[in-house]
Amino acid sequence: MEKFIIEGPTRLCGDVNISGAKNAAVAIIPAALLVEGICTIENVPQISDVKISCEILKELGVKVEWLTPNTIRLDTTHINSTTAPIDMTSKFRASYYLIGSLLSRCHSAEVGSPGGCKIGARPIDQHIKGFEALGATVTVANGRISAKADKLVGTSIYLDTVSVGATINVMLAAVLAEGTTTIDNCAKEPHVVDVANFLNTMGADIRGAGTDLIKINGVKELKGNGTYSVVPDQIEAGTYLLAAMATKGDVTIHNCISKHLESLTSKIEEMGGHVEELPDDSIRVWTDERAKKCNIKTLPYPVFPTDLQPQAGVVLALADGTSILNENIWESRFQYTEELNKMGAHITAQGKTAVFEGVESLSGAPVSASDLRAGAALLIAGMAANGKTELSNIALIDRGYECIEEKFTKLGAKIKRVDVEE
Ligand code: EPU
Repeated sequence: MEKFIIEGPTRLCGDVNISGAKNAAVAIIPAALLVEGICTIENVPQISDVKISCEILKELGVKVEWLTPNTIRLDTTHINSTTAPIDMTSKFRASYYLIGSLLSRCHSAEVGSPGGCKIGARPIDQHIKGFEALGATVTVANGRISAKADKLVGTSIYLDTVSVGATINVMLAAVLAEGTTTIDNCAKEPHVVDVANFLNTMGADIRGAGTDLIKINGVKELKGNGTYSVVPDQIEAGTYLLAAMATKGDVTIHNCISKHLESLTSKIEEMGGHVEELPDDSIRVWTDERAKKCNIKTLPYPVFPTDLQPQAGVVLALADGTSILNENIWESRFQYTEELNKMGAHITAQGKTAVFEGVESLSGAPVSASDLRAGAALLIAGMAANGKTELSNIALIDRGYECIEEKFTKLGAKIKRVDVEE
């Protein structure tokens, strides 16, 4: 088991390059199963969820070759199994995309129940509703999900909940279906659009991604032979901007799409931070004053993302005044607040609401990450705090942030990764 030892406080200053989006890459890699040929994917982040996605594809018969540290070439001409190894699929959430892809390409899929961060109940009823509407029979038993269909036929599907996973999974299942599928009440996150763009580059006919209504005209096959570059990670970008705010720093992020960050940058300005959009896909955020109080509500894109809620919480923990955070997506996403309280924060969390009575400073303490974004938040808190913070459970952070300690070290942080006995 590894830990981060962080010596604070640090004022983070400098430049950082944003990697490809985790939640796009972990969908695009299984989406490549729809291609009967070769595709090259660039700007793939080196994170553990991506590595395991590639390992699963190899088990299914795909040839996976890393051309550079961030470029993979996938040869999906032959698929020799539609059963994904259960021990691998249970390690991360996005393994559910194997169901949509395998069902579409091979008309059969068997996948272990998906794992992922423990941030609340994570049902997949809307994914199943979509598969069944397209003509599949889905069984959930013994920790496995099996889906089969003689053929998939396009239809109209209304999702009861706005769900990133269900939108992408049903879209995957519909790409090779007969006729036209419409999915209504879709998620509009940038990674939904990115998966649609990838599939269209490979020969699919998907329209409307990024709106409430996606229309998929089924095609006979995806021939591939294309190259696609994964969209920059909006959540990683936001994590560095919030780290600048928490440490009263001056950070410029490069390779980002400012439109994807509008809900965050408007909150940063409300907190008293300065935001400058630079012409070369860069954003600079700086402040030398204590943040002002600010209320935040999380909701699906384009509203404030739940995946930046814990990192924003660190800024509010240190802000001048009392702030209120409403979490409307996941019911267990305030676990990090107990850890921040060990560092001297004054946060009361109950149900969907957390009240942050801002304190002037935090002090280092032993803390533990309960999930990926909680881990990022505690790392930021450690850099802002006085003294030494020992952050455990950091394998969760490695699931979604490429070279995180190298990037923060370049900005001036003092972080060491150490091995500890279990
Ligand atoms: N939901 C249902 N039924 C479903 C699917 C979802 O009721 O069939 C509910 C969920 O319980 C939740 C809401 O709908 O309350 C939204 O869930 P969604 O399906 O959008 O989440 P997800 O696809 O499981 C992805 C990201 C999460 C991110 C959420 C929300 C991936 C691999 N994961 O999860 O990312 O929080 O969307 O934006 O894309 C993270 O990166 O740290 C992370 C947790």
